[in-house]
Amino acid sequence: PRSAAEFLPDRKTLKTLAAAADHCKGCELYKDATQTVFGEGSKTARIVLVGEQPGDQEDLEGHPFVGPAGRVLDEALAEAGIDREDVYVTNAVKHFHWEPRGERRLHKKPPARAMSACRPWLEAEVAVLQPEVVVCLGATAAQSVVGREAKVTRDRGRIMRSALCRQTLMTWHPSAILRAPDATARERMRMELVNDLRTAFQAMS
Ligand code: URA
Ligand code: SF4
Repeated sequence: PRSAAEFLPDRKTLKTLAAAADHCKGCELYKDATQTVFGEGSKTARIVLVGEQPGDQEDLEGHPFVGPAGRVLDEALAEAGIDREDVYVTNAVKHFHWEPRGERRLHKKPPARAMSACRPWLEAEVAVLQPEVVVCLGATAAQSVVGREAKVTRDRGRIMRSALCRQTLMTWHPSAILRAPDATARERMRMELVNDLRTAFQAMS
């Protein structure tokens, strides 16, 4: 298989998509991962949040953003006053990509071919949900959704148009906040994430 496209079901709902994605072999990433981690959230969500790929804990539990990055995201959403019902959370790539580092599994950036192979799932999720805003968390999501030229440091916090959604915005990945060099940088990025989420929220009609 050259992409996820041939694994997509004919009848597309969030349920049929998630069930079909369980068996996706659209690229080689499924081989070393525990399971597919599909998007989750309200089917009436008007904001879709797109991360990079599941992390170690997400891979084991089968749900997006349930690890340390997920806690940063949950707190930022709460601080921005965004209700869980308003969001659907997913990833640009649905399988965990990693390399062994001693006993641990170290996250590895997904290869470009996995990003394009996996995009049909994201496109289908957005087509079903028809959200008012798509928020890209970090560079990988931004590059998958907006294009290769997207740059989070330069473009974050602005509503722009993408092939996926008329209103698309990019912001920091919660993991980038956890990796910030010091407490000052961490707090600044955290506040920028909250602000950018507020911008997304205010863009809803
Ligand atoms: N990081 C991501 O990009 N996605 C997750 O689901 C978890 C961590
Ligand atoms: Fe399919 Fe995406 Fe997993 Fe590759 S990463 S096997 S395209 S679900």
